[in-house]
Amino acid sequence: MAELPGAGLATAQAAAPGTDPQIVVDPRKPYLDVDHLQIGLQRDGLPLHIVDTVTVSLLPGASLGIVGESGSGKTMLCRSFTGTLGRYGVGITGGRLSIAGHDLTNAREKDWRPIRGRAVGYVPQSSLAGLNPVLTVETQLLEALGLGSRTLTKAQARIEARQLLDMVKIPRADAVLHERSHQLSGGMRQRVMIAAALALRPPLLVLDEPTTALDVTVQYEILVLIRQLREELGMGLILVSHDLAVVEFLCSQVMTMYAGATVEIGASENIRSRPRHPYTNALLHSRLGMAERGKDLVAIPGESPAVGAWPEGCRFWPRCSSAADACRTGAQPAPRLVDGHLTACIRAEDVT
Ligand SMILES: Nc1ncnc2c1ncn2[C@@H]1O[C@H](COP(=O)(O)OP(=O)(O)OP(=O)(O)O)[C@@H](O)[C@H]1O
Ligand code: SF4
Ligand SMILES: [Mg+2]
Repeated sequence: MAELPGAGLATAQAAAPGTDPQIVVDPRKPYLDVDHLQIGLQRDGLPLHIVDTVTVSLLPGASLGIVGESGSGKTMLCRSFTGTLGRYGVGITGGRLSIAGHDLTNAREKDWRPIRGRAVGYVPQSSLAGLNPVLTVETQLLEALGLGSRTLTKAQARIEARQLLDMVKIPRADAVLHERSHQLSGGMRQRVMIAAALALRPPLLVLDEPTTALDVTVQYEILVLIRQLREELGMGLILVSHDLAVVEFLCSQVMTMYAGATVEIGASENIRSRPRHPYTNALLHSRLGMAERGKDLVAIPGESPAVGAWPEGCRFWPRCSSAADACRTGAQPAPRLVDGHLTACIRAEDVT
């Protein structure tokens, strides 16, 4: 689903100086803790689920790639980590979400404002359109730095804005500060978006398909930059991508989503070499599985179901060549441990 225009840089709005809630980074505890999360809305008086249900936790500094076909709920899940679901008319309808030591399940905009940007930096999908075309790069970075809401003079903020451009290795940074988005290449715009997301040095960066609209050489440069930034800043990473090779390049764990649910999650290497869910296996052999370049690519038959039209039983059964009668009834299988990672397939030991 495309992002709303201008939904990009709305990150840093600190509360009154001295009153900001603490961002807790405890190496022994998950920094991000998502437990049976449901995201949805009411339509005609009935609940409509978009994400149902996702359970994942991430220690400080850890990395997770999220893959899945279009419409599987990847963006809505990431949006829940930034408290911006309301802009799409949806919200958290069940489960629990905790970030940086704060239970944010029922958080409202006023609760999110001092946390967003400080706890999680976010580069949204279609972010190349996320910069405001009217404002200079500097003005937008000052906004991301929270000028006006932090005890920061304009002169200090200008220095920080310049440092942010250095951090994302933008060439001719002094000139770029005074330019507007149409004067920048796609790669430069993406670097500015990443700089803005890092303005308040969040311990976790969420990138929703950061390289999709870029040409191949620039894609690689951005991926290398992200890797360097992680090494330099020690921050955690959540990366949404259609490309499993990209995920493996940057993330030590991967989660496959299908029709709003987690269907497989575990170490990237383990899942690539031993996928136990037929859907992940199919992704690895389809166009999404670019790690398998050179092999014959097999399209996954059929289409993923639209929200509101998920079948009973395992949501993947209409497309699954291993489906048995037991797969077509009951609830979506819950992930369970098979071969060292979690898989939501009742036949995981027999298939793939
Ligand atoms: N307000 C809404 N009302 C109804 N359906 C919605 C609403 N917002 C999102 N959806 C649906 O939720 C589903 C998940 O959307 P989402 O953008 O998270 O998918 P995605 O996995 O990020 O897909 P893509 O790979 O195309 O970006 C989509 O089918 C979308 O149409
Ligand atoms: S539970 Fe059944 S339908 Fe679902 S993925 Fe496993 S084998 Fe296929
Ligand atoms: Mg998306």
